[in-house]
Amino acid sequence: MSKVVLGVTGSIAAYKAAELVRLMKRREWDVQVIMTKAATQFIGPLTLRTLSGNPVACEMFPEMAPAEVPHIELSDWGDCVVVAPGTANVIAKAALGLSDDLLSCTLLSCAVPIVIAPAMNVKMWDHPATQANIAILKERGVTVLDVGEGDLACGYQGRGRLIDLETIIAAVESVL
Ligand SMILES: Cc1cc2nc3c(=O)[nH]c(=O)nc-3n(C[C@H](O)[C@H](O)[C@H](O)COP(=O)(O)O)c2cc1C
Repeated sequence: MSKVVLGVTGSIAAYKAAELVRLMKRREWDVQVIMTKAATQFIGPLTLRTLSGNPVACEMFPEMAPAEVPHIELSDWGDCVVVAPGTANVIAKAALGLSDDLLSCTLLSCAVPIVIAPAMNVKMWDHPATQANIAILKERGVTVLDVGEGDLACGYQGRGRLIDLETIIAAVESVL
């Protein structure tokens, strides 16, 4: 059984992570979800916990500290790490090697393939900083998927939508 760590970040597209987890479970992948603090504003951890069948990790420093170091445990466990949706912020942090929360620590400490499916406002997507960060990640071998085009939740039209979920699944399948 393939083991997938799914990072969910603070994008309006975070609700789509619920269906993504279902598609992963349909393939009989074992899925452990990490949510950033911002992601929990958009979708409840309970939803992803229920659909994944595993506890959802949100905290770098949980009140009941486990014996293991959570980000090392997760990065050692997964056959790949998928970030969907991926904010401009998490992409920038990964490009810089920042590690100030559980997801960014996991990305920095994992030695398995990483797939990122970005989602953001078209201006954030087009910003040279975002494009430079994506170029850095691709150069390092990270699979950064394209974005879709159309109506954006912020009212804008253009590129920045989370790509369709089957494309994300196909990208994960190809790295597993
Ligand atoms: C309603 C709303 C929607 C947002 N959607 C996005 C988004 O789709 N993509 C993005 O990069 N940031 C988005 N943001 C901004 C992020 O939530 C913010 O940058 C946050 O710090 C990201 O944290 P994280 O990367 O740790 O999850 C949104 C913010 C709000 C208030």
